[in-house]
Amino acid sequence: MTDNSAKYVAAIDQGTTSSRCIVFNQDGAIVAVDQREHRQIFPKPGWVEHDATEIWSKTQAVVAGAIAKAGLRADQLSAMGITNQRETTLLWDRSTGKPVHNAIVWQDTRTAALCNQLGGSDGQDRFREQTGLPLATYFSGPKAAWLLDNVPDLRKRAERGEIAFGTMDSWLIWNLTGGTDGGQHVTDVTNAGRTMLMNLETLQWDSSILSAMNIPEAILPEIRSSSEVYGTAVGQLAGVPVASALGDQQAAVFGQACYDVGTAKNTYGTGSFLLLNTGDRPVPSKSGLLTTMGYKIGTEAPVYCLEGAIAITGALVQWFRDQLGIIRTADEIEPLAASVEDNGGSYIVPAFSGLFAPYWRSDARGVITGLTRYVTKAHLARAVLEATSWQTREVVDAMYQDSGVHITTLKVDGGMTKNNLLMQHQADVLDVPVVRPKVSETTCLGAAYAAGLATGVWNDTDELKAHWQKDVEWTPDMEASVRDRQYHNWRKAVEKSFGWEE
Ligand code: G3P
Repeated sequence: MTDNSAKYVAAIDQGTTSSRCIVFNQDGAIVAVDQREHRQIFPKPGWVEHDATEIWSKTQAVVAGAIAKAGLRADQLSAMGITNQRETTLLWDRSTGKPVHNAIVWQDTRTAALCNQLGGSDGQDRFREQTGLPLATYFSGPKAAWLLDNVPDLRKRAERGEIAFGTMDSWLIWNLTGGTDGGQHVTDVTNAGRTMLMNLETLQWDSSILSAMNIPEAILPEIRSSSEVYGTAVGQLAGVPVASALGDQQAAVFGQACYDVGTAKNTYGTGSFLLLNTGDRPVPSKSGLLTTMGYKIGTEAPVYCLEGAIAITGALVQWFRDQLGIIRTADEIEPLAASVEDNGGSYIVPAFSGLFAPYWRSDARGVITGLTRYVTKAHLARAVLEATSWQTREVVDAMYQDSGVHITTLKVDGGMTKNNLLMQHQADVLDVPVVRPKVSETTCLGAAYAAGLATGVWNDTDELKAHWQKDVEWTPDMEASVRDRQYHNWRKAVEKSFGWEE
C-alpha cells in the first residue's frame, strides 16, 4: 500500500536498448519499475537507428506500467524527471509532430567522412576548445548535418522554422508537455553539451560551429538547466511538472551523489562511462578524455566533469554469447571465467567500432592476442571480462594525467556490477576499492533527484547525499608486479588493434 501523505517522484530513462520508468519514494528507494525494449535498426554496416515514434509509445507504456505497479494515480507524483541515451539525434516536423527520419543513434558511424572534412587542417581538435569534444562520429551535430543534407527538402523546411532538432530528452519533453499543442522545445546543458554545438563557457549554442556545420539555429531547442520545471505534462501524466533532464551518464553522477570535486563513478552497460566531478570550471583534456557538463541545478553554477567514454564493455559479453555462442546467457560468463586461475596469457581488445577514450581511433579493430594451445574458452571468458577493467584503468590513468586527481574509491553501477569476478579484477587493476550502492538504478535515481530538487521534494544535495548507502565493496588484492606485467601486455594488445583498413 502506498502512503497518501508521502511524496513520490518518477523518472523515465530512455536508454539505447530500452526505456524504463521508476517511481521513487522520498527516501530515494525504488517503489516500482517498468521497462520495455525497442528495435535496433541496422540499415547498413556501421549504421544504427531507432524509431522515435516507437520510443515515444514505449515510454508512455512504461510510465503507465510503473504508476500502476506503484499503486498510485498520476496526480500523486510530485514530479517527473527525464534521463536519456545521449547524442542520439532526431529531427521532427513541428506541425505534425512526426519524425522526418529515424533517429541516428550515438553508435552510428555514417558521419566519419563528414567529421574528417570538418576537421580540415585542424583535425579532430577543431572544436575542442569551445565544446570539450574531439570531432568524432559519436556526437549529434554532424548527425544533424547529415540529415539536413540527405533528407530531400529538409534543409529548406528547417530554414523556414518548420523542423525541430532534439536528443531524446527534447523529444520526450516536447511530447509530454503537449507536442503539436504547445509542447516545450527545450534541452538541458548535459545533453546540449554532447551535440558539439554548445559552448561550454556560455552554455549557449555556438554560432561559429553552427555555421561551420551549416546547421540553422531555427531547429535548435532552448538550453536550460538540468533541474527546473520545463512545463506541465498533459495526457496520462496531466498536471505533473516535468522537472529534470540529464544525459544518462550525468544522471548517474547525480544519483551516485558525486557532488564533490574529485568524486567519480563508472557505469557499466553496453559501454562504460567514467565521469569525474571537476567542479565549476571545465578542465581541458590532453589525454583523450571529454570535457563535459556534470549538471546544473536551476540558477546555481554549473558543474563540469571529465569523462572517459568506452564504447564496448558489456557488448563484448553479448558478442561472446551471440556471435561466438560460447555461453548461452550472459550470467554464464562468471562461472566459466572463475573455472581458471587467470587469462592464460590472452587479451581481447573489443575495438568493434574503433576505440573511444582515450584513443579516439576509428582505424582500430578488435584483436585477440597471446593465443597458445594452452588457452581455453574459460581463459577467453576471463579476457572478455578483463577487457572492461583494463579499458577502465586506461581511462583512470588519463583522468590523473589531466586533472592530477587520484581516484581513491570508484563508485560503480550498471548491469555488469553484479559480476563479482569482474569487480574484483577492477579493484585489483586500479589498486583502489570499488563500491556499489544499495540503489544501483543510479541513472533514474539521479533524474528523480534533480526533478525532486526543482519541486521541493528535497532541499539540497546534502540531503540526497545522506541517502547513499554502500551495498558491496571490493578491496584490491593483486601484487603490483602481476598488475604491471598484465597492464604491459594489455597495452601491447591495444597497439595491435590500430591501423586496420576498411
Ligand atoms: O553516450 C551514450 C550513452 O549515453 C548511452 O548510454 O546506457 O543508453 O547505453 P546507454
